[in-house]
Amino acid sequence: MDHAFWHSKWQNNHIAFHEPQGSPLLVAHHPVLTAPPSPRVLVPLCGKTRDIGYLLSKGCEVVGVELSELAINQLFDELGESPEITQTQTHKRYSIPGLTVFEGDFFALQRDDIGAVTGVYDRAALIALPASMRGQYAQQVNKLSGGAEQLLICVDYKQADMPGPPFAVSTDEVTALYAPHYSITLLASEDVAGKLKGKVPACNQVYRLSSQTE
Ligand SMILES: C[S@@+](CC[C@H](N)C(=O)[O-])C[C@H]1O[C@@H](n2cnc3c(N)ncnc32)[C@H](O)[C@@H]1O
Repeated sequence: MDHAFWHSKWQNNHIAFHEPQGSPLLVAHHPVLTAPPSPRVLVPLCGKTRDIGYLLSKGCEVVGVELSELAINQLFDELGESPEITQTQTHKRYSIPGLTVFEGDFFALQRDDIGAVTGVYDRAALIALPASMRGQYAQQVNKLSGGAEQLLICVDYKQADMPGPPFAVSTDEVTALYAPHYSITLLASEDVAGKLKGKVPACNQVYRLSSQTE
């Protein structure tokens, strides 16, 4: 998926991936991210997810990354906030106390840009990317976060039944991508209600990825 694909999704308001009430799976499993003292959570490919508001309400500081300026404006509007906007060498940065969102390419961010984080929240980020980009994505998550604890929500289904996104990502693939750096626990696996896009039987899978060095 190139950048133009996602910009067009936002321009045309084709954002079926957005959960207006936020993710019940985050509510069920938030301690993975909220338990550490002074939690600071990276949210890659964040869109305008309501989950950011939820993490803020749980006392997390949040760092989001998103390509679309439209998405970021809607995110802050829906939070009822007017961010301060500054420019880094590579990204536009939107900040309010507790929340920073970088506008631009996730793959162009450096660890110094975002600072240290205690966790990573991936909902619909890994599965937004085609197989050819997922290895690079996992490496970038690991590099930016320093192997911080991760709550990862994937969807799995028969890829032949439907083109992505969202793409099917199996437990085997999560293991291949992340096992070198993390120990992986499957926390939950549940059928997608009403099938994926109303068409394809699918399963949401929630993983906890913990640093191997713990
Ligand atoms: C499937 S949506 C998921 C959004 C959000 N995580 C959620 O749960 O609603 C994927 C998002 O990633 C953004 N995106 C895609 N490629 C990106 C990239 N290389 N860097 C930053 N954001 C990107 C898109 O604009 C889109 O908003």
